[in-house]
Amino acid sequence: RRTLRWTWRFTYLSVLATVGYTCYVVWDDRHPNEQVQPDPTKKTLVVLGTGWGSVGLLKNLDTENYNVIVVSPRNYFLFTPLLPSCTTGLIEHRSIMEPVRTILRHKKAAVKYYEAEASSVDPERKVVKIVDNADGKTKGAKTAETEIPYDMLVIGVGAENATFGIPGVRENSCFLKEIGDAQLIRKKIMDCVERASFKGQTQEEIDRLMNFVVVGGGPTGVEFAGELRDFFEEDIKKLIPEISHRFKVTLIEALPNVLPSFSKQLIEYTENTLREENIDIKLKTMVKRVTEGAVEAEVVKADGTKELLKVPYGLLVWATGNALRPVVRDLLGKIPAQKDSRRGLAVNEYLVVQGTRDIWAVGDCAVAGYAPTAQVASQEGTFLARLFNNMAKTDAHEGRIKELSSSLNLKQGNSAEVATEIESLEKQLRRIKDVKPFKYSHQGSLAYIGSEKAVADVPWFNGNFAAGGSLTFLFWRSAYLSMCFSSRNRVLVLLDWLKSKAFGRDVSRE
Ligand code: FAD
Ligand code: NAI
Repeated sequence: RRTLRWTWRFTYLSVLATVGYTCYVVWDDRHPNEQVQPDPTKKTLVVLGTGWGSVGLLKNLDTENYNVIVVSPRNYFLFTPLLPSCTTGLIEHRSIMEPVRTILRHKKAAVKYYEAEASSVDPERKVVKIVDNADGKTKGAKTAETEIPYDMLVIGVGAENATFGIPGVRENSCFLKEIGDAQLIRKKIMDCVERASFKGQTQEEIDRLMNFVVVGGGPTGVEFAGELRDFFEEDIKKLIPEISHRFKVTLIEALPNVLPSFSKQLIEYTENTLREENIDIKLKTMVKRVTEGAVEAEVVKADGTKELLKVPYGLLVWATGNALRPVVRDLLGKIPAQKDSRRGLAVNEYLVVQGTRDIWAVGDCAVAGYAPTAQVASQEGTFLARLFNNMAKTDAHEGRIKELSSSLNLKQGNSAEVATEIESLEKQLRRIKDVKPFKYSHQGSLAYIGSEKAVADVPWFNGNFAAGGSLTFLFWRSAYLSMCFSSRNRVLVLLDWLKSKAFGRDVSRE
């Protein structure tokens, strides 16, 4: 009885502490302190993008040290790991978006934000050309173009979808990179389902509409295929049973296996699980052409011969990795030291774009020898914040040392005190200047594979711990919940999961 009483007390206190902390976080979020206005005499730091890299930088940067300007066509940060869940309505899209205005309002010194796209960078004149592409925004607004001068520039514009110039891809498929892509997929899934259920629809057309083809067996393709299968099993089957048995997912991958970056046993586990989920995996199959209702692919058979395959589809999702953004391609052409760079801006160990002095690059648009992941981008952003905070401190210390040294020269009475202060400042300066180069610390790879199962490759002492299944799924969910950008995101995602479990996904089409 005594143990029970203590357990109750402990539970009560824990709940109270959690509620108290949540209330404090919400209150603090709604009542930010007054901001210092940007000081134009300080160095202008221009940051391109509001993704993992740039937001990692902005979150940790002391904005009082610079005149900070952010340029991005997206006025929010997107938590990409949960984007595949938005395609089926398991998670509502706004739950994984965090307005950049909210992020910037919490900085000590105000930061200027322009919703625009950087179209080119001129490293000679140190200016960025930005375009406010009004299309789709305020009706009647015209496209505006202007230039922003910079002292320091950070490029964190991410990457585009790779299509490898394969004919028909852009015209006929959906990508899965942005919120708009997930919304379009969600709408198109229901389009296919409703059209397949239309009175008098031919059997052939039903089979085409109900075949959902995913090209690319990387984590994006696998996670989407898993989410799609869950949607049909858990919701469509109950709501529209007459067509659900015609539902099919085909996952096409050019390599001999899916998830090439995961360990061998997890690749096997994933492929077996996907097959159990009735996902048709076509390996060693490279898509060569896409037409309005079918993909044409080349299959390498076991004997090495090649065969042409035509797969009809209702919805095609293209997830074959990253390609350069135009602004990055344009900059590569302007820097002679980057003439051999194909995958992005080659950077040194301090993330400085090689061949430049005042330009840094982070995330998917930078080539630093790491995989293009959110983890890498975020750590790079945090590293740059530390570097820039240190650089500002260095400038301030050097200025003060200069000032003190000249007062020493004037031989004022307090020279001993001044000399001590100089010595202490020089000591601090040595420590500040000793910034180690960027080193990525891998926290592990996680991927959802459907039917409440996930796979995880986690570094363990000097080796690797590989796990897959339902427990890993719980780990996957708790890891991503804790990594959400804000408490607001965390609460919304949790409520979405509970809502979908209790009431099912919302299949209405907006
Ligand atoms: P992004 O996050 O893509 O941000 C780029 C920013 O630049 C955006 O704000 C964009 O609007 C802006 N921008 C674009 N063009 C311009 C321009 N011309 N001028 C100014 N701004 C511009 N990684 C993981 O580690 N774990 C995961 O679980 C994971 N899941 C993923 C799921 C999906 C569906 C996808 C697509 C990716 C996933 N990733 C994951 C990869 C991860 O999202 C990327 O590696 C990460 O987003 C890269 O960060 P970034 O800052 O370089 O680019
Ligand atoms: P990816 O580059 O990881 O995989 C793309 C796949 O498409 C490759 O396996 C490639 O062989 C295949 N492919 C290319 N062209 C093809 C063709 N014509 N026909 C058939 N297959 C073809 O791309 P993805 O999945 O978009 O991921 C991009 C980055 O984001 C990666 O670094 C990935 O690690 C990261 N990411 C991580 C996630 C996670 O950790 N859970 C989730 C999603 C993305």
